[in-house]
Amino acid sequence: MATTATTQSSGTPGQRPVGTQPPPETMTWPDTPKFRGFFAPSRIEADVYDLEIEGRLPPELNGAFYRAAADTQYPPRFPNDVYINGDGMIHMVRFENGHADLKTKYVRTKRFELERAARKALFGAYRNPYTDDPSVAGIDDGNANTSIIWHAGKLLALKEAALPYELDPVTLETKGIYDFDGQIPGRTFTAHPKHDPRTGELIAFAYNATGLPDKQIHIHEISASGKVTRSQTFEVPYSSMVHDWLVTRDHFVFTISPMVADPEQLKREEQYFVWDPNQGTYVAIIPRDEGVRGIKWFRSEQLMETHSLNAWTDGDTLVADHFTTKSGWFSQFPKTTVGLLPEQPPFLHRWTFDLRGGAAHWDDATDTYRSEQLIASPGDMPRVDPRILMEKNRHAWIGGMHPDVPKVEIGPMGPPFNSLIHRDDHTGESVFWTPGEHAAPEEPVFVPKAGDSGEGEGYLLVLVGRRDQNRHDLVVLDALDIAAGPVATVKIPFRLRYGFHGTWVPDSELGK
Ligand SMILES: [Fe+2]
Repeated sequence: MATTATTQSSGTPGQRPVGTQPPPETMTWPDTPKFRGFFAPSRIEADVYDLEIEGRLPPELNGAFYRAAADTQYPPRFPNDVYINGDGMIHMVRFENGHADLKTKYVRTKRFELERAARKALFGAYRNPYTDDPSVAGIDDGNANTSIIWHAGKLLALKEAALPYELDPVTLETKGIYDFDGQIPGRTFTAHPKHDPRTGELIAFAYNATGLPDKQIHIHEISASGKVTRSQTFEVPYSSMVHDWLVTRDHFVFTISPMVADPEQLKREEQYFVWDPNQGTYVAIIPRDEGVRGIKWFRSEQLMETHSLNAWTDGDTLVADHFTTKSGWFSQFPKTTVGLLPEQPPFLHRWTFDLRGGAAHWDDATDTYRSEQLIASPGDMPRVDPRILMEKNRHAWIGGMHPDVPKVEIGPMGPPFNSLIHRDDHTGESVFWTPGEHAAPEEPVFVPKAGDSGEGEGYLLVLVGRRDQNRHDLVVLDALDIAAGPVATVKIPFRLRYGFHGTWVPDSELGK
């Protein structure tokens, strides 16, 4: 397919003043891996009733699986646009008495509606208002594409660069931006809030809440009924990407890594984050009861947290299991302060902190933590049984790489997975399930078999991209026996755009 002259002359970040890129004149995707082949936008909004099913769906599986994806609506204003700048598309599979129905629908963000009306992209580079068309200056650029949660009877699509959008849980119609009835100040809200299974609270944070890089992180505690019970703020050494975090029953844990954002940098170029290995890596541990006054800073070797698995506090010890990489996220933000560097895959690490150490200010921090790699395979997108979050878990499920299975082709966000891993912390063993050659599992979502079933007794719902068939499956696995293969495979008759995070909402919550 021909590439437009606009695309060919675009150059790379930093080679021209920002905001001068003319919009593409044709409906042609950039000729980059993020927009070609299996990773091209899908843009299909559909209702498909009674999907074909191999095997039998468990009769107790009644409810809705939701998953958020970035499905770019129009060719981006910058051909090197990052995958995570795409428009939020929600995939829902509704399970009812052994049947499965699919609905896919775009979130009608302000940005989506304006661009659809204009029939072209108006918003520019990821989080960079200096690259937007002047006609949309000052308008919220949230695209609600990263994760989707259920809290206080509301379905919320999240993006860390903006506030949530509320959706109807049955029709997926967009209700609008949701700021918890005005209780959340600022313009951002994490895509990785944590539900406290004991209290039903939603524990969240926000960074760069002014809409531009700043050094404040806000922590919001939201009751099971949706009331914000406490908001507090602390300062970090520099403004950087804070995608995920860890929460125990007693502490919040933030890893501050040198994926740095700077307001002046945004005026010079479109890339929001730049890896600066000359900056230190820090860990902030904040006691939940005392709040930010009790913050303690620790030092870390240079790395970045990609996603957290779980963490718990045991007396003066805090244990944090999460995926970390020794590099920045170069597949999305390739520029660094020291030239191009190779992206390193994330590995699951267990950090153990002695809470008697730490310093009140990052400048005084010298204590660190004990680190142990838990799985030899690289991986990411982990899940635990959500009923056990914030306390010591036994079971974990992870997207990973089986060393003896052929790798599927490189995806838009770094190395893809060829397997799902079940790790048992009691035995230290990892069991793999591999969906087959040319197939890659995405994030698993855990569904308990019953409310009172034991930890891990449940099902995993896993979208599997089948590259050779140009479509997806939604696979149902017994969470404690993934090696047995699917209990049932729900066959989706077309390709979904490779997505991010999802959730499960039982019928009892949906009011059915
Ligand atoms: Fe994430």
